Amino acid sequence: MPLKNNATSYGSLSKLLHWVMAAIIITLIAVGIYMAGLPKETMEQKQYAFQFYGLHKSFGVVILVLIFVRLVWIRVSPPPALPAVFDAKEQKVVKLLQALLYLLMVALPLSGYIMSNAGGYPINFFGLGELPALVGESKKLGGIAHEAHEIMGFAILALIVLHMAGAIKHRLKDKGGESDILKRML
Ligand code: HEM
Repeated sequence: MPLKNNATSYGSLSKLLHWVMAAIIITLIAVGIYMAGLPKETMEQKQYAFQFYGLHKSFGVVILVLIFVRLVWIRVSPPPALPAVFDAKEQKVVKLLQALLYLLMVALPLSGYIMSNAGGYPINFFGLGELPALVGESKKLGGIAHEAHEIMGFAILALIVLHMAGAIKHRLKDKGGESDILKRML
């Protein structure tokens, strides 16, 4: 399989980035909701919850790195255009959805990073060492970043559901046909 995308299909690097990031992001949403709801009163409860926090933050940083790789790769090897069977309105909807997903893939992990920095919590990357703070401690900024992180977490979940619904709809309606664009990513 070629590394680069061509006019009709995705190459191996785009496919790898797409599926690895999808798996990590979906897991981050589930773990994020689970850990935020955990009780944190006793020492044992805190220790249990903060194990998940550590993993969530480290994998979140991985997404932040991978989205920049992906944005550079799009410039180097542009994705295939949508097939002509999609009318102008459908093309607009698909493009808007993709643009919002890209925006959230940058803003969501960044808000998590800022929330941790502003709250005075370290970001230890898989126990290998502490990552530098982008902002200083600030209760106000921490609160805003926290709120933004929560809202964007649920927004990306809704967009992922729509994105998957579109792919599944075209697969069921037109399996192997021109509008079944899932096949270009498999
Ligand atoms: C694409 C990447 C990410 C996704 C999809 C994601 C998703 C989520 C979600 C859905 C929640 C639950 C929100 C709530 O119910 O309060 C959450 C919580 C949290 N996230 Fe992320 N996150 C990502 C990246 C990050 C990063 C990079 C950091 C920090 C370095 C981070 C730190 C946190 C923290 C500390 C919480 C817990 C907030 C609380 O205790 O209420 N996240 N995340």
